[in-house]
Amino acid sequence: MRSIINEKNLNNKKILLRLDLNVPLERNKIRDTTRIDKILPTLNFLIKEKAKIIILSHVGRPKGKIVEELSLKPICEELQNKLRKKVKLIKENIKEIKTKNFFNNYNEDIFILENIRFYSEEEQNDNKFAEQLSNLGDIYVNEAFSCSHRLHASIYEIPKFLPSFSGLQLDLELNALNKITSEITRPITCIIGGSKISTKINVIKNLIPKFDNIIIVGGMANNFIEYFGNSIGKSIKEKNCNKIVEEIISLSKKRKM
Ligand code: 3PG
Repeated sequence: MRSIINEKNLNNKKILLRLDLNVPLERNKIRDTTRIDKILPTLNFLIKEKAKIIILSHVGRPKGKIVEELSLKPICEELQNKLRKKVKLIKENIKEIKTKNFFNNYNEDIFILENIRFYSEEEQNDNKFAEQLSNLGDIYVNEAFSCSHRLHASIYEIPKFLPSFSGLQLDLELNALNKITSEITRPITCIIGGSKISTKINVIKNLIPKFDNIIIVGGMANNFIEYFGNSIGKSIKEKNCNKIVEEIISLSKKRKM
């Protein structure tokens, strides 16, 4: 995928920008803005190039239903504060909105569509839904590295309809991955974190043969700590993961880790 940073003539181009704004929310307050801070360079680049921006993102797992606590409203406000620019949240049904609903007013260059996972079509990777969304833009930019393993419409299907590019943060992540998979000399230790062990099992399985040591940290570590009979108190962990933990331990033992 080509990087958007090398594109010329973005002036007035409508960019469908897939971000991962899945930040921790508590009573409509954002507890950690790291994911928002990381994508600001891409937004600032597009603003500087005078592009028109339509942001797509999910937060949480509403499973195709409208869940008010998972609205992107607080995230939209945070973006607006950080960019010091108007960011307009579109709450209308995505399946009914048209291109002519956007960019009609002076000073309205950034829109954000309400949580894309309010629509079951997103996780069903629905081709028609993706086509409808793609009609809103001229170019698609994936700046959602942490969602890129998902077979979802806004990640996998939209690029079939539009010229597609990577965002600046996604470039950084890919370069880092290239470095650790091609340029590094052994012994190598991989430190992997996160809270959802069930969705990372395959990644961890793939990492086991590539590294000499794997250190699991963050929420996922709690599954292991508890598995070995220790108390984790109220710390987060994913439920029903003992089988996965056993699988990882057994694979790593085979590799003598
Ligand atoms: C994440 O937080 O890991 C990404 O936003 C993906 O979320 P998901 O695991 O709910 O698909």
